[in-house]
Amino acid sequence: MAEKQSRLNVLVIGSGGREHALVWKLKQSRRVDRLFCAPGNPGMGTLAKCVNIKAENIRGLADFASRNKVNLTVVGPEQPLAYGIVDEFQKRKLPIFGPDRKSAQLESSKVFAKEFMQKYHIPTAPFRVYSNMADAMGFCKTCEFPIVIKADGLAAGKGVIIVRDREEAWQAIENIIDKKIFGPAGTRIVIEACLTGPEVSLMAITDGKTILPLLPSQDHKRALDGDKGANTGGMGAYCPAPFLTPELLAQAQEHILEPTIAGLRAEGITYRGILYAGLMLTPSGLKVLEYNCRFGDPETQVVLPMMRSDLADLFQAVTDKRLGNFGPIEWRKGAAACVVMASRGYPGKYSTGQRINGLQNGWPANMFVFHSGTRRDGNNWFTSGGRVLCAMGVDNDLKTALDRAYSLVGKIRFDGAYFRKDIGARALENNRTT
Ligand code: AMP
Ligand code: GLY
Repeated sequence: MAEKQSRLNVLVIGSGGREHALVWKLKQSRRVDRLFCAPGNPGMGTLAKCVNIKAENIRGLADFASRNKVNLTVVGPEQPLAYGIVDEFQKRKLPIFGPDRKSAQLESSKVFAKEFMQKYHIPTAPFRVYSNMADAMGFCKTCEFPIVIKADGLAAGKGVIIVRDREEAWQAIENIIDKKIFGPAGTRIVIEACLTGPEVSLMAITDGKTILPLLPSQDHKRALDGDKGANTGGMGAYCPAPFLTPELLAQAQEHILEPTIAGLRAEGITYRGILYAGLMLTPSGLKVLEYNCRFGDPETQVVLPMMRSDLADLFQAVTDKRLGNFGPIEWRKGAAACVVMASRGYPGKYSTGQRINGLQNGWPANMFVFHSGTRRDGNNWFTSGGRVLCAMGVDNDLKTALDRAYSLVGKIRFDGAYFRKDIGARALENNRTT
């Protein structure tokens, strides 16, 4: 399948569960020789060598890659992409998987993304852009509620506020534009219609010409069972998401993924890497809620366990601009599910430093624990973040995959551990209306 069969030194940038899943999958590749992560986490440290360089230290990372003959760098989080890590690596002729700074605007500026979708007729909610508080408030005097108010820039997944009435809208506008709760990310805002319907995360890999969708997955963003409570970084996921039928996937490819890549090309932008479309199946069809220019977290923790193809080969096909020769990505049958174990209080205030029991042993086949907020001291493990870890199970059907993930959750204990008990439950009840 791959034309070049040389062994690769690979660097994964980032330190969350998504990056742990990337390292876990790359470790299985017959192509990978040395595997580094920067800065990584202690879970990743059991599979790869952690290097103490922050994800935003672009020059430091490029120096490291150059010194250590890294021939494939994979970027997990959005910030280094938005800061132009890919541009810097390319300038130095260092192979890197991810979109360049201009491409990353699809995620780093919601105004850019919305105006782009409007220009290229990509289905999305109708919207307006404001930088002036009085104008934005004026619009809210006449609009229908609920509506959605979004900070333009990166806000760690917190920059989207759904408001039910004029008072809430004014509060949100004041908080974002005047009080700057999201900092400079809120210099401009998008106000858009509130859509309804099930959501799906559709990630695709592209070299700017060929676009290969990955299996669709579904995240669970709310903190509490029944999709209640605050928005979080994601409390669990499963893959594939059954309501994105082959017909809907074909529609997404034709009306969303392809026009996105073609539209960017028309703007003089070649997008290479993962294009993540956050989609909603509304009564009037699929609409784009947002783009991300990277792998989703925790979606990656369920999509990669389903992949049979060699991930290093796939990444290299993109960096070599020959994804068209790669052939279809191969997937195993069945389903994967993951359940996030968080510190009580997350996404609000929580304490860290709790001893974690149950991580010492290896896992049975088809189960794995991806770390996001853990600290290691010898053989002892402690919590060090809001989302602590994510227990993954993969099997021949969703029910068994979920049982595996939850049985793993049952083996891991720490004070104040919190997890949702209903991950994938709606998909099990009715696999077309999740
Ligand atoms: P984030 O991933 O943090 O940008 O949050 C996006 C989430 O906000 C989506 O997953 C939706 O649940 C919600 N959202 C964003 N835009 C809309 C919209 N136009 N209508 C309804 N919900 C939305
Ligand atoms: N799971 C949503 C995201 O990665 O943005």
